[in-house]
Amino acid sequence: MPLIHLISAARPNMMKIAPLYHALAKSQRYTPHIIHSGQHYDTSMYETFLSDLGLTNPTHCLEVGSGTHAEQTGRAMIAYEQYLRDHRPDLVVVVGDVNSTLACSLASVKLGIKVAHLEAGLRCFDRHMPEEINRVLTDHIADYLWSPSPDAVQHLVDEGLSQDKIEFVGNIMIDSLCMMLPKITQDPIFSHLNLTDRGYGVVTLHRPFNVDDHKTLERIVTTLVSLSAELPLIFPIHPRTQKQLDLFGLSKLFTQAPNITCLAPLGYSAFMKLVLHAKLLISDSGGIQEESSYLGIPCFTLRPTTERPITLSEGSNQLVRIDTLQEAISATPYSKTRQPSAIEKWDGKTAERIVRLLDTMFF
Ligand code: UD1
Repeated sequence: MPLIHLISAARPNMMKIAPLYHALAKSQRYTPHIIHSGQHYDTSMYETFLSDLGLTNPTHCLEVGSGTHAEQTGRAMIAYEQYLRDHRPDLVVVVGDVNSTLACSLASVKLGIKVAHLEAGLRCFDRHMPEEINRVLTDHIADYLWSPSPDAVQHLVDEGLSQDKIEFVGNIMIDSLCMMLPKITQDPIFSHLNLTDRGYGVVTLHRPFNVDDHKTLERIVTTLVSLSAELPLIFPIHPRTQKQLDLFGLSKLFTQAPNITCLAPLGYSAFMKLVLHAKLLISDSGGIQEESSYLGIPCFTLRPTTERPITLSEGSNQLVRIDTLQEAISATPYSKTRQPSAIEKWDGKTAERIVRLLDTMFF
């Protein structure tokens, strides 16, 4: 049976490999192995997700850990290359745009091992974002480019990549959501926190441009505190953001705000349960733009650009600055019934389509 490595590294990657791992295992025609780079390692950023998503322990962990971009990318390349020498797969599947995505792709292609990039072609055209560099470079060295949306396909064509490599497979994050929905709806967090349906907003922030600069982070925190007077906010805090809040002495502003509930990072089911019942979301995440669009929940993305423009045109996402956030929230209509979007191939069947594609490649 073809051996397929699925590379997981940071939190969102686990949601992206889980549906594919399960679909490959179910087919009984492939041996899927999860290789975890170790870029995320805290229990709340890693183990909780594995157990939540029903993933067996990774076959191997590269133990890359935190560091500068070069350190993280370099360590992942060296460790994965060593592993590949004795455990050569028939295909490596990398997902998303984190440092390990690029590192593992480079290590593989240089050993002549085929690489598929799942979530290929996303572009925000801002080369200041490390993820944009990772996306472009990974797409240009991968053998198979599996895209979530027609605009992503178009970017690859525009960059001169061969049409033969490109496949519009759909959005794998939506597969995770569909697969996990029964578990999500049962999650007890909503009652534990004593929340009411659409009576609160959910906040997540972790991008360096939002959290690494003192003044910017302070402005965000004071805006959130002011917003919370109108709408209670739940804020599961990413380790990077917590570190910066502590460093700048801003954590105390939250302690003094009774309507903001700060939490440690949550598992997938608990977090999505909060999302399902939220009135609105404030975030700089990539995946949350997609999940909110699929569910029809207004999402205010604190970023100047997005690599997922389909969530603006066909979803419920809008880009905001911190000084326009309050105004945007007030100007947005909140209907009683949610209108989930019907974006093409965001239907929970992406993993199935990929397995069918692999069948044509391997058999
Ligand atoms: C990474 C990805 C980003 C993705 C995000 C999801 C890159 C360039 N960035 O950003 O695209 O959206 O993951 O979370 O790959 N830390 C811990 N425990 C952990 C992991 C991280 O405490 O388990 C802390 C460390 O202080 C670390 C910092 O968070 O230095 C940042 O982690 P890192 O993996 O470098 O980047 P993220 O900001 O998580």
